[in-house]
Amino acid sequence: MMIEKIPYIQDREFQHYIDIACGEGSFTKVVIESCKSIERVTGIELNASKKEGFLKSVEHKNLQFLSIDINDHIFEEDPIDCISLSLALHHIDGIESLLKRIIKLLAPQGLFIVHELINDNLSPAQQNQRDFHQLKARIDREHGEYHRNVYSLEEVQGMISGAGFTVLHDELKLNDTISDRDPDNLTRINTFVEEQVIQFYDGKKPDFLAEAQKKLLKNIEKHGFAPPPLYLAVCSV
Ligand SMILES: C[S@@+](CC[C@H](N)C(=O)[O-])C[C@H]1O[C@@H](n2cnc3c(N)ncnc32)[C@H](O)[C@@H]1O
Repeated sequence: MMIEKIPYIQDREFQHYIDIACGEGSFTKVVIESCKSIERVTGIELNASKKEGFLKSVEHKNLQFLSIDINDHIFEEDPIDCISLSLALHHIDGIESLLKRIIKLLAPQGLFIVHELINDNLSPAQQNQRDFHQLKARIDREHGEYHRNVYSLEEVQGMISGAGFTVLHDELKLNDTISDRDPDNLTRINTFVEEQVIQFYDGKKPDFLAEAQKKLLKNIEKHGFAPPPLYLAVCSV
């Protein structure tokens, strides 16, 4: 589930690219592969366990991974000429103030790249992906993590323009004709639920989880599963 290429940046040469909430670097790689060159790459990520995967999967001669909450991170240098935030708008507490910090950090010719899943006009197979995501978000919230349901396209665009960015290029990948019928999707739901029961609920499945599991399995058998619509925006200050 990822935009594969960012056409707008193919001729750009960046000094320092920072991927905020980089996870294991899936989107970091897309940016590196889409532009002409980058001198230095930094991934910032709350979850330290992502470090190994990030350093293994992202290939770059000058690569760094910082394990820190972005809201506590003080940028020691500025300006920065490329910053991205992928699949993470809905993961970050205080996103509006982060966007305002990013706009101050960006160099005059710098780019901010947002990549986010959205919840508009979903096909039945995409509604199953949304319901699975909402279940994961609910469990994360019950255990103290900030993880909200995904935003609409209007909300995402409103956040970007509200922070003061200018959108130079944007695109929407609808993914609405996909309906993946692979039985592995059912296995994935069951494995996820059983792991949560062991990890968080002392081996006893709560009612809400049993009900969500049953409903999801039924709906996935009926309509399949599909990635959500994805929105990409390349922005300047
Ligand atoms: C869905 S993942 C996206 C990972 C990656 N950007 C990608 O596109 O594959 C969201 C990531 O945001 C990270 N995250 C959430 N809140 C954060 C914060 N306050 N500071 C840094 N990272 C954060 C999570 O740990 C998680 O790895």
